[in-house]
Amino acid sequence: MFNKTFFTSLALLSLLADQRLSADELAVLKSKPMTFVGVASCTATNCHGGRGKSGGEATHWLQFDAKHRQAFDVLLSDRSRSMAVKLGIREAHTDSRCLACHTTNAGKTNVAHGERFSLEFGVGCEACHGPAGDWLSAHTQKSWRTLSDLQKAELGFRDLQSATNRADACAVCHVGSESATVDHDLIAAGHPRLTFELAAYHSMLPKHWNAREELQRDPMQEVRLWAIGQATTAKVTTEISRARAQAALDKQSDRVATDLAEFDCHSCHHDLAEESWRVNRWSLGKLGAPQWGTWNVYSAVWLAKNGRLPGANLSDAGVETSFIELQKLMQSSRLGTVRAEPLLMASRQANAALRR
Ligand code: HEC
Ligand code: HEC
Ligand code: HEC
Ligand code: HEC
Repeated sequence: MFNKTFFTSLALLSLLADQRLSADELAVLKSKPMTFVGVASCTATNCHGGRGKSGGEATHWLQFDAKHRQAFDVLLSDRSRSMAVKLGIREAHTDSRCLACHTTNAGKTNVAHGERFSLEFGVGCEACHGPAGDWLSAHTQKSWRTLSDLQKAELGFRDLQSATNRADACAVCHVGSESATVDHDLIAAGHPRLTFELAAYHSMLPKHWNAREELQRDPMQEVRLWAIGQATTAKVTTEISRARAQAALDKQSDRVATDLAEFDCHSCHHDLAEESWRVNRWSLGKLGAPQWGTWNVYSAVWLAKNGRLPGANLSDAGVETSFIELQKLMQSSRLGTVRAEPLLMASRQANAALRR
């Protein structure tokens, strides 16, 4: 009776069961508290603190990925101090908003910190690889390799071999998220404007893995990362507007205040010359109304219309129409507010089109 077919169907059944997570179950999973164990838990010599690349990932990160390792230190700089004064916050290095991106996702809700966790390590391992509280010991066992991607993901592990996961990992800080953005207040106070492009940032990132082998396996990697990065920044943009619209509706308000940094900077920051290219440009809005900023979305829309890159199949007619809808809505706001309900609908539609 216990033949091969039996076990196969058993395996299939459990797989189906895994994938049949209802929206409620997914929500529970998402709201499950996650524990960040901290870089110190990864740096033992026989773990990732050895020499060479394989086994020496943490050593490499400590030595070479200075920007991420020092991301917290930057909050103690004169520039951050002056920003804090202008923003009216007490100090940058204790402000949850700054910490959200300048440390290992300390600003997230529903997050606990292990004994060895320390903010001072800046953007550490778990910022990209996922909070390790539930998988730290599991991933050192032989059985780790037998777990499915879904099972690993449920434990909070993020598989960065996947280019879309890799793009999502960087975008949380380099584009923004529902819980933290670099808005016009931050920019006006002195924060650099975030102009993320995945292929370029990926190429600048000092690699603690075998990047050459990766490139041999996939010579198109950079092109693919560029395309996926464009789709991801656009997707994140829709997630941010969706969250803003939802937050307004939750507070029984039917309008959402727009942020100046969502618009094209040069709509407002320019000389008042009589002869100006602005007067003649293509525009969906009225003259005098600021244009919606397209840095994060334009290439994705273009790709969806024209692009057919292997592995980045964005050819979906829904993308362009849904973004035109979103753009019209944002530009109708002039400098005021947008109606929350249509903004929620439009962001949802654009987000779904991009995910497809
Ligand atoms: C949405 C994520 C995010 C938030 C929120 C954020 N930052 Fe940043 N910050 C970044 C990123 C990403 C960079 C690097 C920009 C680049 O080089 O592309 C950066 C760069 C900086 C820099 C320039 C560092 C340098 O090396 O020149 C300073 C200073 C800074 N941030 C301070 C702050 C302060 C203070 C706050 C809180 C008031 C804050 N940041 C909030 C993501 C964020
Ligand atoms: C900025 C994001 C980021 C940070 C921070 C980061 N990693 Fe990685 N890591 C990656 C990416 C991307 C890869 C390549 C994909 C892969 O192999 O999973 C990778 C690969 C790895 C690998 C697999 C190496 C291989 O040969 O396959 C290990 C192990 C690893 N990282 C450990 C660490 C440790 C330990 C830390 C902290 C000291 C760390 N990472 C910090 C992004 C990051
Ligand atoms: C938890 C937030 C966070 C995550 C996740 C993250 N970064 Fe960063 N990154 C930062 C911050 C903050 C800085 C700026 C620190 C500074 O300037 O001192 C930065 C700086 C950088 C820089 C240096 C930029 C410069 O101007 O020199 C590169 C390159 C970079 N990140 C690439 C990546 C890539 C690629 C990923 C994804 C694999 C990633 N980052 C994931 C927060 C993050
Ligand atoms: C809808 C109009 C509008 C848009 C769009 C806009 N800004 Fe501003 N910005 C302003 C106004 C108004 C001020 C305040 C000027 C003042 O206080 O003199 C300002 C102030 C600033 C400041 C502070 C320094 C200064 O000159 O006063 C910076 C930096 C800045 N903006 C950058 C940007 C960037 C970068 C973008 C695009 C991401 C942007 N702005 C988009 C209207 C805008």
